[in-house]
Amino acid sequence: MCGIVGYIGNKQAAPILLGGLEKLEYRGYDSAGIAILDGEKITMEKTKGRLKVLSDKIHGGEDLKGTIGIGHTRWATHGAPSDINSHPHLSRNGRIALVHNGIIENYLQIKALLESEGYTFVSDTDTEVVSHLIDYYYNGNMIDAIIKAIHRIEGSYAFGIISVDHPGELFAVRKSSPLIVGLGNGENYIASDIPAILSHTRDVYFLEDNEIVWIKGADVKVLDVYKHEVKKEVFHVDWDVSAAEKGGYEHFMIKEIMEQPKAIEDTVCPRIQGGNIVLDDIKLTKEQINSLKKIYIIGCGSAYHVGVVGKYVIEKLTRIPVEVELASEFRYRDPIVGKGDLVIIISQSGETADSLAALREAKVRGARVLSVVNVVGSSISRESDDVLYTWAGPEISVATTKAYSTQLQAMYLIALHIGINNGKISEEEKEHYLAEIQTIPSKVGKIIEDVAPLQNYASKKYGSKDIFFLGRGLDYCVALEGSLKLKEISYIHSEAYAAGELKHGPISLIEDGTLVIALATQDSLFEKLLSNIKEVKARGATVFAIAQEGNTEIEKEADFVVYIPKIDNLFAPSLTVVPLQLFSYYVAVNKGCDVDKPRNLAKSVTVE
Ligand code: G6P
Repeated sequence: MCGIVGYIGNKQAAPILLGGLEKLEYRGYDSAGIAILDGEKITMEKTKGRLKVLSDKIHGGEDLKGTIGIGHTRWATHGAPSDINSHPHLSRNGRIALVHNGIIENYLQIKALLESEGYTFVSDTDTEVVSHLIDYYYNGNMIDAIIKAIHRIEGSYAFGIISVDHPGELFAVRKSSPLIVGLGNGENYIASDIPAILSHTRDVYFLEDNEIVWIKGADVKVLDVYKHEVKKEVFHVDWDVSAAEKGGYEHFMIKEIMEQPKAIEDTVCPRIQGGNIVLDDIKLTKEQINSLKKIYIIGCGSAYHVGVVGKYVIEKLTRIPVEVELASEFRYRDPIVGKGDLVIIISQSGETADSLAALREAKVRGARVLSVVNVVGSSISRESDDVLYTWAGPEISVATTKAYSTQLQAMYLIALHIGINNGKISEEEKEHYLAEIQTIPSKVGKIIEDVAPLQNYASKKYGSKDIFFLGRGLDYCVALEGSLKLKEISYIHSEAYAAGELKHGPISLIEDGTLVIALATQDSLFEKLLSNIKEVKARGATVFAIAQEGNTEIEKEADFVVYIPKIDNLFAPSLTVVPLQLFSYYVAVNKGCDVDKPRNLAKSVTVE
């Protein structure tokens, strides 16, 4: 999940690489490095710590001269963050420099082979074997050496490579790790993701597995492993560069929370036309819908939590059984899935390694795969039978907010689409649901209009050691996400429980002053939740509750209440999650945490 970037052109490469890496820091940020090719010499600087440390060390790139280079921002897998383990890695004679995103699974085997050939290693990384391996196979032709090397290695990779033997050239290749080529005017780029190059060009190639990029001067070639040239389609990025900038906010996270009304509207509204759901990109026929036996929803992290909401919603509206599963479990448990089943993969990045592997597993077994993806052209979107894009725009903060919210909308759209087609939703219900879903953007807008009470409450509670989230039904699903958000960015221990489970264990953890966040937006479960609040209060807990407007009875029990606007209970998660995001954000800010780049986490988890 590291970020890689490369430049070849006639400008000084180092400042461009640093600029690109800054946009990729969300992928990992424990060390950074760049290597520049200047004629027949490679100069390199790399260091443990944030990109800023590297940038200061080389005076914003001024110290490294040359117009071709590669850069890397690291999320350590093999070998602790250190100067020596940082990328780029050089071949033994220093003639090749390479950056890598991914994991080389058989690196120990290759290392042993290379050691027996006299190679010595300076780092603990898996990556270093690849720079030596390319050197080992190099016989005057770099493309041949790269092809031989990728045949030998197992795992996932996106590599950027330069060599003193090829002074005007830049090479790259990928498998199961994202890589794009940015096409400029007389200058070209490689990068893990679009924001890294967006200030320079909007025209990109998305690379498929094992496609090799060979850029010589201004000439870009993409080759397959048989060295045949592959004709690539240029994808024009039409979103605004400012979408990936902070735009006056202190953090990306708060900016992205505030963008939710628009993101939800962009995801939902174009898909409601003439009183109907129109999902142009979904080719699933009415017959296929009517013969669906089972639906699986699969994701990781917050995407999995969306799936938990999706299960409740899809089962209710379609009466088709739904199983929701973590991708990392599904892929290895020999699941009973096949023809007649629909597998929905949810992923913001579209590159999460476990989700991609689960997708492949489902396809091999004959299921139809529909993905809900935010990043256009990502691996998961390309390998799915159908894609429903969430139009959240680029999400930079590691902790997801607007992607989660738009993924929720995708669940509603899919449920409505299937339920209308299989006759489980009546005309009257359809009208009601379509009207309700379209109120979500303005209701989220209302919640974010006045953040002061939550900001104030967070400033009193940021010292908490443990925080528990309780809910029933859909509130439980949202509690899972609220708890994850809080622990991710504030490092406060937190757990989410189905409130009915309280007496089966968690109540023993409640003591004087423990903060319990109780979600009570579901009318049919409101009284039950009130009882649970009383139970924790009786054991000394302080309760922060979220309820629907009008349910003021909750004030008798809770110490602090936030109301969400009235909405059909089915859609309440879209509103309930917002105060939870804001609370987590302000707690983390009060604690002085690095909100957008929480420790040990990365946004795009492209390794298992
Ligand atoms: C990481 C991110 C989470 C995200 C999860 C799945 O853990 O920090 O915010 O939910 O990966 O990512 P995906 O891109 O597949 O949605």
